Amino acid sequence: MNTIDKLLGRMTLAEKLGQMTMTSASYAVTGPVIAGDSTESIRNGTLGNLLNMVGAKHVHEMQRIAVEESRLRIPLMIGFDVIHGHRTIFPVPLAEAATFEPRLWELTAREAARETAADGLAMTFAPMLDVSRDLRWGRTVEGPGEDPWLAVQIARAKVRGFQGPDLAHAESVAATAKHFCAYGPVMGGRDYASVDISERTLREVHLPAFAAAVDAGVAAIMPAFTELGGVPMTAHKALLRDYLRAELGFDGVLVSDYNAIRELIHHGVAGDVVEAATLALKAGVDIDMMAEAYRHGLPVALERGLVTIDEIDECVLRVLRLKERLGLFDDPYRRGSKAEEAETVAARRRLAREAATKSLVLAKNSGALPFRENTRRVCVIGPLANAWREMRGPWAAAGYEEPSITVLAGLRGALPSAEIVHAEGTAISGTDTSGIAAAAELVAGADVVVLCLGEAAEMSGEAASRSSPELPGEQRALADAVLDRAARDEVPVVVVLFSGRPLIVSRLMERADALLIAWFPGTEAGNAIADVLTGRASPSGRTPITWPRALGQIPIFYSQRNSGRPENPKDHFTSKYLDVPNSPLLPFGFGLSYGRFSYANLTVSPEVATASDTIEVSVEVTNEGPRAAEETVFLFIRDRVASVARPLLELKGFAKVSLAAGQTGTARLRLPVAELRFLGLDFEPVLEPGEIEIHVGPCADSAQLKVARVLLRA
Ligand code: NOJ
Repeated sequence: MNTIDKLLGRMTLAEKLGQMTMTSASYAVTGPVIAGDSTESIRNGTLGNLLNMVGAKHVHEMQRIAVEESRLRIPLMIGFDVIHGHRTIFPVPLAEAATFEPRLWELTAREAARETAADGLAMTFAPMLDVSRDLRWGRTVEGPGEDPWLAVQIARAKVRGFQGPDLAHAESVAATAKHFCAYGPVMGGRDYASVDISERTLREVHLPAFAAAVDAGVAAIMPAFTELGGVPMTAHKALLRDYLRAELGFDGVLVSDYNAIRELIHHGVAGDVVEAATLALKAGVDIDMMAEAYRHGLPVALERGLVTIDEIDECVLRVLRLKERLGLFDDPYRRGSKAEEAETVAARRRLAREAATKSLVLAKNSGALPFRENTRRVCVIGPLANAWREMRGPWAAAGYEEPSITVLAGLRGALPSAEIVHAEGTAISGTDTSGIAAAAELVAGADVVVLCLGEAAEMSGEAASRSSPELPGEQRALADAVLDRAARDEVPVVVVLFSGRPLIVSRLMERADALLIAWFPGTEAGNAIADVLTGRASPSGRTPITWPRALGQIPIFYSQRNSGRPENPKDHFTSKYLDVPNSPLLPFGFGLSYGRFSYANLTVSPEVATASDTIEVSVEVTNEGPRAAEETVFLFIRDRVASVARPLLELKGFAKVSLAAGQTGTARLRLPVAELRFLGLDFEPVLEPGEIEIHVGPCADSAQLKVARVLLRA
């Protein structure tokens, strides 16, 4: 019998339920305030896990109580939401997805883990892997965007980054893949609402990233708050126990979302906390976060014979094993026992700047960018021009209170000899228009206007769904006034747009001379934006989510299936709108740079392939523009005839090429034939013989893609 099993043998029911409970320590910036009687519960062994606590000193003090004063001396596991950096804030996850750079995805998670661990913590509730195709849903900002294949790549990189090569290492933390699963398609884009999707969509779109996380060894998984076709995920035996545990072999910890077990009562599947706890336990949820359902409900459930002690023991063992894997039994103080070196912190800041720069997506540029060499007067207008708190984006919980760099500060730093004038014009939201006229007057005599518009950070994230994701408040009025005035004086206007989701900005796109999608870039926001505006860096981000022209187009995503009546403007009875084209404002993968790229000579080899082959795809890319730049080359496939209708395009790869002005290079991509399998009529993976189209190019717009064909032989 190993130590963990022996330990289990010595535990009382109350101690077991303590290991299955996680309670908030009521995080405060200056230090933790332990809620209610938590300290006493740690001491008497009836509380095994905490969340929302930071600071190595405080964490160690709690660990000390657990390992020195509790009967069995079991260390605590303390988790925290490290959504896009812990203290140093990286771009929001949606923005980071836009970098299309797996090395960066992993590195930012690694650095976030080191910073989290330096604070004494051993667990994070990240990565968030929910595919989102509904921009109304505020949590779109936390995730990988619209594409399941992209979500898989991000899942792998993030798990590797957080957990490092060894979970027990003092700089590694347990990752939690969340929210399992299909949280994104909430009805009406309203957070926490119900979900009703087909089994195919579930399997093709929402499960793969979690399967990839399990494959990468993720330590924990958090079921979503939502229900799927009437079954709340917290009680979803078929998906938690049968799929995750039995089919995928996941033996890590299932930690409920905040109060989610008790919410089974509101969902309408449990009458009281005893039934709620029973359902969650039966589904295999190991840790009850904040509902107190296990501690209060399970003793009664046990007495009534609704659950067995074996079912409880199973969960306790999984929690203890994770603590063991984290090295907590060996040394509960290993994380946070050494202060980080100044150079480590400085290097992390440089990484934040790199990630921020690479996450910026240039949506339009009719020549206003980069700024001309002799730019003397820059007019920086808008409510997001000097708003350091907003730059961090939502959910930067333990982010430094130290200001993030604003656009104004970034530009002042980058252009020390230019005159930089600034007016807010109007607030982010509200109805005050009194500053608009004066702001528009500032345009006079400027070489360029930088108009900083968008959402406040808190307009996306949890419980931040919006029914009209447009520019809030009076920002459209401000934009019109500035654009009118600038048009009169022939001053170019560059819009820098901040948001946690695509916004409906067709009119702005038409009128502005350039539009840079900044998302929320984090601590180094203003420096990154200034680097791109001034041309020190060429923009290279690509949108990981389609931007619609009109809200009524949603859900709009590139991998839709064809219709029996595909859009034909000349034929009335085809699949289209009367008032807007089907095409988006910006397709998935779109993003300009300061180069101009053309594609030629797409080749695939072999052209006739079998299951074990890997297809080598190559294409020549030429930078016809006047400046060096990086191009992201996407590889999509299309299977025109299959037993189940396949999407119009499916992402299967991407590669980057950096080219000087006038230079030609070759992008090479590898496509294992195994990747061409799809779920057949019976939902089993199949590889069907026949022709597969290989589409290669700059984004998911068919008109811009080169096509080659591969014949699959059985
Ligand atoms: C609720 C959120 O849904 C989840 O993502 C988060 O990890 C927990 N609260 C804990 O803060």
